[in-house]
Amino acid sequence: MASPLHTLGVAIILAFLVYHYIIYPTFLSPLSKIPNAHFTCPIHPLWMWWKRRGGREGVHSIFSAHQRKGPVVRLGPNEVSVASLDGLRQIYVGGFGKPKWYAEQFMNYETPNLVSMVSPKDHAGRRRMLSHVYSKSYLLNSKDMQVLSSAIIFDRLFPILEAAAQDSKPLDLYQANRALGADFMSAFVFGLTNSTNLTCNTTERQEFFHNHDELLRNPAEKGKARQEIEGYGLELCQAANALLRRPSAKMKSSTTASTEPVVYAQLYSRLPKESLKTNAAISPALASETLDHFVAGPEGTRTTLTFLQWELSKRPALQARLRNELFTLDPPVQPTFRTHPNSPNGQVTQRLPSFQALDALPLLDAIVQETLRLYPASQAPQFRITPPGGCTLEKRFYVPGGVRIGTAVFCMHRNEDIFPNASSWEPERWMKEQDSARLKEMRRWFWAFGSGPRTCTGRYFVVLVMKILIAAIYTNYTTSIVDDEGMEQEDTFLGHPVGEKLVLRLSSVV
Ligand code: HEM
Ligand SMILES: *[C@@H]1O[C@H](CO)[C@@H](O)[C@H](O)[C@H]1NC(C)=O
Ligand SMILES: *[C@@H]1O[C@H](CO)[C@@H](O)[C@H](O)[C@H]1NC(C)=O
Ligand SMILES: *[C@@H]1O[C@H](CO)[C@@H](O)[C@H](O)[C@H]1NC(C)=O
Ligand SMILES: *[C@@H]1O[C@H](CO)[C@@H](O)[C@H](O)[C@H]1NC(C)=O
Ligand SMILES: *[C@@H]1O[C@H](CO)[C@@H](O)[C@H](O)[C@H]1NC(C)=O
Repeated sequence: MASPLHTLGVAIILAFLVYHYIIYPTFLSPLSKIPNAHFTCPIHPLWMWWKRRGGREGVHSIFSAHQRKGPVVRLGPNEVSVASLDGLRQIYVGGFGKPKWYAEQFMNYETPNLVSMVSPKDHAGRRRMLSHVYSKSYLLNSKDMQVLSSAIIFDRLFPILEAAAQDSKPLDLYQANRALGADFMSAFVFGLTNSTNLTCNTTERQEFFHNHDELLRNPAEKGKARQEIEGYGLELCQAANALLRRPSAKMKSSTTASTEPVVYAQLYSRLPKESLKTNAAISPALASETLDHFVAGPEGTRTTLTFLQWELSKRPALQARLRNELFTLDPPVQPTFRTHPNSPNGQVTQRLPSFQALDALPLLDAIVQETLRLYPASQAPQFRITPPGGCTLEKRFYVPGGVRIGTAVFCMHRNEDIFPNASSWEPERWMKEQDSARLKEMRRWFWAFGSGPRTCTGRYFVVLVMKILIAAIYTNYTTSIVDDEGMEQEDTFLGHPVGEKLVLRLSSVV
């Protein structure tokens, strides 16, 4: 038999455990005032673990909790989800810190980049170096962007579209979209001359995306996929470096189209000189940052653009309206509008319409905006940590310091009060004819690219690329679905179609 003293000891320990793990978190902690997503949330993170199994993010469950319990819900003993403008303003515009362990998964070459930088000061410095070349006005007026886009559209994409349309051969646009995203991105970051050609070279494409998928599934893994991608990134840096150092006269006399390595050159000129002088030929800071952009490049096109083409393929009448709008461009984006890439004086002839004009097309803009609302590249909550003093959400829920807190774009974009019939793809909701107060409210809730100091660096770039690609396809072709198995279920982690394919039939209209 246990002694009375022993029994007392056990009782005290039990009482302490019950208090610490059940009574305090459930009834006394400030977080106990927040509605629970599930009754077990105050005691154990098991519920969220279950919903997150297999690499998912459980956004459907989080969303349903918000629908039932309002804009602030507790997901676990130390985890809160928020879906409101007040939440966005405080957490993201207010610049709450990223969880360190989480950020550090996204290191390349064991060196921080924008995504993995934790210190607000370092991060702000790096943002300032890059903001110019990723700004909307820079991109819409960039000669390099015109040249590289013409090369990719006319020399790589059109031959593929023409072959498919002529033989009525089904075309997998999911594969094409992610390859095009990588090619656009690598050309802009490292220069067109030595950038990737995944759109045309299927062997190179398969090898690359095998590693790319592996890396996205597990960014912290230091295995073969990371090694190969990092090796590839270094080659691209070396090529960009060679471009930067070449005598300027050489580029002018070249007969093939060439562009500056825009992002590489910008960083090279802005990074502190001592960080560039390393034993290795390439600065790790430069390599880490540029590789991150390159890896992000295919994400938007493979997700958002694929869903866009799918939705359009179900709507021939909308395709016709879009085509009428695209025909107002001068010149329209058609395969036959081919001029020689270089005129005799070395000036590249403009073959695509101005990007200003392309960007200003209202229906095209509404279509892209609506697709980003429903199918952004990542549906995952963007977690932050509350600062030491905590914060008060919606004027009534105090959250102490050190709590994991975040918003999932899914919960913002599926709010029926802001976006009626929210799960349905309706580009018209973004058109100017709509009630302007309503439109303004929708824009405030639009959160595909995040907000505040860590908002997506590539947002104007990826929107421009998608607009160019849509114009290239829908000016001269209609698309209809051959095989869309897997499109109905979007993966809730990255948001991309589960079947990883979208097979369409192209027919030329002109
Ligand atoms: C449709 C396509 C894309 C979507 C929906 C998207 C979305 C996002 C979101 C939501 C964030 C914020 C994450 C957070 O708050 O922690 C982000 C960050 C970022 N994105 Fe994108 N992105 C896209 C494409 C791209 C592309 C093509 C690039 C290439 C330059 C890029 C580069 C970045 C970088 C560098 C960050 C980190 C910014 C920072 O922490 O300062 N993204 N993106
Ligand atoms: C439209 O596409 C067809 C098939 O690819 C092509 O033969 C034709 O030249 C294109 N029309 C224009 C005006 O570019
Ligand atoms: C891209 O690859 C294809 C096939 O591999 C090739 O025909 C084409 O010339 C390449 N284009 C560039 C710009 O490297
Ligand atoms: C495609 O890429 C692979 C690997 O980079 C290369 O070995 C091959 O020569 C390329 N094929 C063509 C046709 O350019
Ligand atoms: C870049 O491309 C040029 C021409 O295609 C080639 O001569 C050069 O070796 C390449 N540079 C690197 C570093 O790959
Ligand atoms: C809501 O969406 C459904 C499915 O897309 C559609 O059939 C219905 O007409 C929409 N309702 C309204 C009121 O727009």
